[in-house]
Amino acid sequence: MTKTLKCVIHARLLALVLSSLATCAAAQGNTQAAASTAVKRGEYLSKAAGCLGCHTEEKKGAVPYAGGRGLKTPFGTFYGPNITPHPTAGIGKWTEAHFARALRHGERPDGANYFPAFPYPSFTGMTDADVRDLWAYMRTLPASAQPSRPHDVGFPYNLRFTVTVWKWLFFTPGAFTPDPKATAIVNRGAYLTTALGHCGECHTPRNFIGGTRKDRFLAGGKGPEGKDIPNLTPTRLKKQWGDKDLADFLSTGLTPDGDVPAEAMGEVIRNTTGQLTAADLAAMIAYLRSLPAIADEKKK
Ligand code: HEC
Ligand code: HEC
Repeated sequence: MTKTLKCVIHARLLALVLSSLATCAAAQGNTQAAASTAVKRGEYLSKAAGCLGCHTEEKKGAVPYAGGRGLKTPFGTFYGPNITPHPTAGIGKWTEAHFARALRHGERPDGANYFPAFPYPSFTGMTDADVRDLWAYMRTLPASAQPSRPHDVGFPYNLRFTVTVWKWLFFTPGAFTPDPKATAIVNRGAYLTTALGHCGECHTPRNFIGGTRKDRFLAGGKGPEGKDIPNLTPTRLKKQWGDKDLADFLSTGLTPDGDVPAEAMGEVIRNTTGQLTAADLAAMIAYLRSLPAIADEKKK
């Protein structure tokens, strides 16, 4: 081989190596960009779904998502567990499939049931893409070694297998299906309200064993802590509040008369509805307006 030929071959090889390196770098850049978009979307979804409140202790300096928040119910107090990526105290050893199964089916990795104080009856509606991005975000949280607190719930409600019966009666797993007769905006609002925002967990009344009453969907009544919760169907809301009043209330926490709501709703506004984009908030309101009006239940 002549020297020039060798040089040409070397130069060609070098060019090839360089160009493939460049392609690799570009591809890696793309994957990183995609990953950071997923994490950002996931962070937004965690707000739209109010994950923080139930999984963070109510005290100054509490580590976000490290658990310990008490949730009072007629059956006892449940504590939101540590869901940071810590390998033993949190869910660091989980796969995305475990995460999806927990949110969609209310099942632990070992197959045991979760108690429905974890609103999987709503989260079951989440789309695959949203579960995936939420998971990407959860993986970026700093790990905390804080142990999860055991629930303080009496017999027989403390037995996880009893939830199997509850699930038969009240749990319908399955992703949200848009209503073909409704507009895209109303469908987006329905998704935000029912699958992510789980507004019905408080605004839909429950029967004596904690099943939500589908016939009174979002129509208010006694909430999980036994207090009165307002009706969100157009019966009352439409008469008293315009869209702007409602948007102001859900983003700032001030009523048209300048009042502040009870803390249960104040927290939802701080962590969830107050964090939504203007378009998503408008969609949520459009959906609430589209609901069939249900009369307030008579006070007993
Ligand atoms: C209304 C309160 C509430 C909200 C909102 C909530 N959770 Fe939870 N979550 C709980 C409770 C209570 C448990 C424990 C259930 C049990 O022990 O059966 C739990 C359990 C979990 C678990 C299982 C942890 C484990 O160690 O097994 C995961 C994962 C989880 N939640 C993630 C989320 C995510 C993600 C969101 C937002 C999309 C969210 N949660 C929103 C109350 C809540
Ligand atoms: C943890 C329980 C809880 C959850 C979850 C919840 N709310 Fe509320 N909400 C309340 C309570 C309690 C009030 C009554 C506040 C008051 O009167 O001071 C309220 C009041 C309201 C009101 C004012 C209605 C009126 O006529 O005064 C609106 C609107 C509202 N909620 C919308 C929502 C939406 C939308 C969601 C879902 C993103 C939601 N809420 C989730 C507990 C909750």
